[in-house]
Amino acid sequence: MSDLASVDYFSDPAIAQDPYEYLDHLRRRNPVFREPHYGVVTVTGYREAVEVFRNQDDFSAAVSVSGPFPPLPFQPEGDDIGAQIEAHRHRFRISEHMVTMDPPDHTRTRGLLNRLLTPKRLKENEEFMWDQADRQLDEFLADGRCEFLGQYAKPFATLVIADLLGVPDGDRDEFRARLAGQTTPGSIEGAMYHDAPGTNPLEWLDDTFSAYITDRRANPRSDILSVLATTMYPDGSEPSVIELVRPATFLFAAGQETVTKLLSAAVRILGEKPEYQRILREDRSLVGPFIEESLRTESPTKVDFRLARRRTTLGGVDIPAGTVVMLCITAANRDPRKFEDPDEFRLDRRNAREHIAFGRGIHTCAGAPLARIEGQVTLNRLLDRVTDIAIDDTVHGPATDRNYSYEPTFLLRGLRELNITFNS
Ligand code: HEM
Repeated sequence: MSDLASVDYFSDPAIAQDPYEYLDHLRRRNPVFREPHYGVVTVTGYREAVEVFRNQDDFSAAVSVSGPFPPLPFQPEGDDIGAQIEAHRHRFRISEHMVTMDPPDHTRTRGLLNRLLTPKRLKENEEFMWDQADRQLDEFLADGRCEFLGQYAKPFATLVIADLLGVPDGDRDEFRARLAGQTTPGSIEGAMYHDAPGTNPLEWLDDTFSAYITDRRANPRSDILSVLATTMYPDGSEPSVIELVRPATFLFAAGQETVTKLLSAAVRILGEKPEYQRILREDRSLVGPFIEESLRTESPTKVDFRLARRRTTLGGVDIPAGTVVMLCITAANRDPRKFEDPDEFRLDRRNAREHIAFGRGIHTCAGAPLARIEGQVTLNRLLDRVTDIAIDDTVHGPATDRNYSYEPTFLLRGLRELNITFNS
């Protein structure tokens, strides 16, 4: 990487493997920097990223997952493109999902989801997680080794959401096979973020949940899907079937790959630094801070996007209406103006929980409490049931020269596989 500022963040394979040096370089030049390839304004500063997340008047979420791909479906005109965004909204990628919506539609849809994620439901879901963690560990513990993503993290993350939504027991194997199988045809991430040819698991999910809701509306039972089927908008009006299905199926898209990436990052750190295994065993109250510091240093969502609706300024930089702004969560969480020695993993970091791995503002991750508990349950159960967790150096090389491969995507940060060994 000779001239870092001219690197194409979106396609450079080396940057996908290690984005940190590049993003640090940009932050040092200016925490708000226009990259030369697509004219995307890259925000690497913590304060500036939070400012954009919180400002839904000047910034629209229409491009939140797609960024500059594909280009805007219109030519921006003037200093306020609010009307143009609304006229073309259906042409933005995954415009049917809440993450790309702006108020008032976002408020309405998010309200529907909030009615589903009640404290009681989350509590029941947590009980499921403890059992599920045990069931999955049982599948490979005797082997003394595993590929953690395929054998634990992916199926765990999928089945937790299936349980949250009340997918009937008899259907869960199919969910696991379709959404978390080792040979999943067409990932959810692909379906969401790219033009994935072939099988689209989100379409299968939409069909499956439409059938559940239609059935429960006709024949209500005492199950969670019946609760979902009769959920009303906060103003008392009844959503159509597809309006109910979308927030439900989107949970798989939003909460499966991201959680898999969090769990594998946390377990990799445990394997690399065995002293943490001892510290966490001695004081389980530190498992929570361990997860927070994992989220901060290895943020699963690397970047998020917004579209300038009105001409504005950010960090002293002029942002014309129609500019795509890239909020580099992973860089903001390593901003030295916010986090001391930001590249250091520190269990006693006072402000670790102020990271923005779950975003900020009205779109703050709806599954953040769930993801945090999934991390805590997983680490606690691993610590309960195995000792001497280590990175498998027959696959990843010796500790002095590790060989990890990360997903080649500009959006998410996560290992492709993680092979560990342990004693049980
Ligand atoms: C470690 C795991 C996770 C990370 C890092 C993460 C990250 C994020 C981020 C950064 C956003 C904000 C997007 C934006 O502002 O444009 C978001 C939104 C969202 N997340 Fe998560 N997420 C995680 C897990 C989950 C889980 C487990 C679920 C649900 C089961 C979930 C559901 C959602 C939903 C529904 C939204 C959209 C909220 C809205 O637009 O109002 N996420 N997530």
